[in-house]
Amino acid sequence: MRTIRFHEFGGPEVLRLEDTPVPRPGPGQVLIAAEAVSVGFAQTQMRRDIFPAPMWHPRFPVVLGGDVVGVVAGLGPGVSGFREGDRVGAFTLHGAYAEYVVVDEEAVLPVPDGMDAAEATALPSPGPIAMGTLSTASLRPGESVLVHAASGGIGHLAVQLARAAGAGQVIATAGSARKLEFARELGADVLIDYSEDDWADRVRDATGGKGVDVILDSVGGEVLRRGVGLLAPFGRLVFYGSAGGGLAIPSVSPMELIDMRFITGFALSRWRAARRKQYLDNHDALVRYLSDGTVRHAIHATLPLEEVATAHELVESRAHTGRIVLLTGRTG
Ligand SMILES: NC(=O)c1ccc[n+]([C@@H]2O[C@H](COP(=O)([O-])OP(=O)(O)OC[C@H]3O[C@@H](n4cnc5c(N)ncnc54)[C@H](OP(=O)(O)O)[C@@H]3O)[C@@H](O)[C@H]2O)c1
Repeated sequence: MRTIRFHEFGGPEVLRLEDTPVPRPGPGQVLIAAEAVSVGFAQTQMRRDIFPAPMWHPRFPVVLGGDVVGVVAGLGPGVSGFREGDRVGAFTLHGAYAEYVVVDEEAVLPVPDGMDAAEATALPSPGPIAMGTLSTASLRPGESVLVHAASGGIGHLAVQLARAAGAGQVIATAGSARKLEFARELGADVLIDYSEDDWADRVRDATGGKGVDVILDSVGGEVLRRGVGLLAPFGRLVFYGSAGGGLAIPSVSPMELIDMRFITGFALSRWRAARRKQYLDNHDALVRYLSDGTVRHAIHATLPLEEVATAHELVESRAHTGRIVLLTGRTG
């Protein structure tokens, strides 16, 4: 089967198309014949060996993970929830850039037969992350939400899901006017270019000086540090990625927290394991939202699996709005 692997860390050029055996599902595992595989920002960090999360333990040759959508092609011993031929999706940390992908059953979710494969890559991780971060923040109807990197793969879903959850005001940040216009089309009320020095003042002004109730932060670093000071009393900041912050931990004054401000993190793998029912309920809600048009999963580009290096270049150039998806050529 066609597999994309790399044997050393580096730029997009280290990604190689190679012929590898179809993997066999072990106990509790499902083999998926892939139609579509997403490319996210985290995978570009993994390829460069700057991915900060503790659960990432790469071994060469590395096959990167992602959101895979396809059809069940094999079942390991003990799998009871799926049958061969079922249309499914799954998020996996390893092994997704290939025609056949093995995943643990607990990661597998049903995908409606008629749903476009690229669109359905919203279901395994980006949708659940957007919904899970909003739940972690205990968003209440009427509250204000600030979504950083709001035109990105997860961010553009978070804008819409915050709206669907009843947010009173959705404030979007992004790095260009074009991206902000995209966030406006998706329902953001306030648009702020956070590459400009005064962005934090503009966020505060947009809330009438009160501060923001909920901040979803996938950028980290200085953006995270300034975000803490933007929280309203009892405001909650959920940190879930470090696209701009590298590995540095920004220093936060305890006196900023004493004003009843809360900071927490979010990792999908932990959430999926610990909040199983809510994770599955969110999945059902997301399928409904995508089907009835409440949420649009914007696909910036689809590319053949072989053009994975171009996909990584696109993500790293920060030119995309929405998501980038690889297609294997197989149709469901
Ligand atoms: N916690 C979890 O379970 C989990 C799982 C998967 C992914 N994530 C994280 O979620 C975040 C979003 O992932 P995604 O795949 O949807 O990515 P994305 O938002 O499509 O791309 C990342 C965006 O971050 C912004 N950014 C800010 N500073 C940047 C910098 N210095 N370099 C590059 N980009 C920068 C860019 O938007 P602007 O140009 O508008 O600034 C860029 O488009 C990432 O941080 C990822 O690591 C978290």
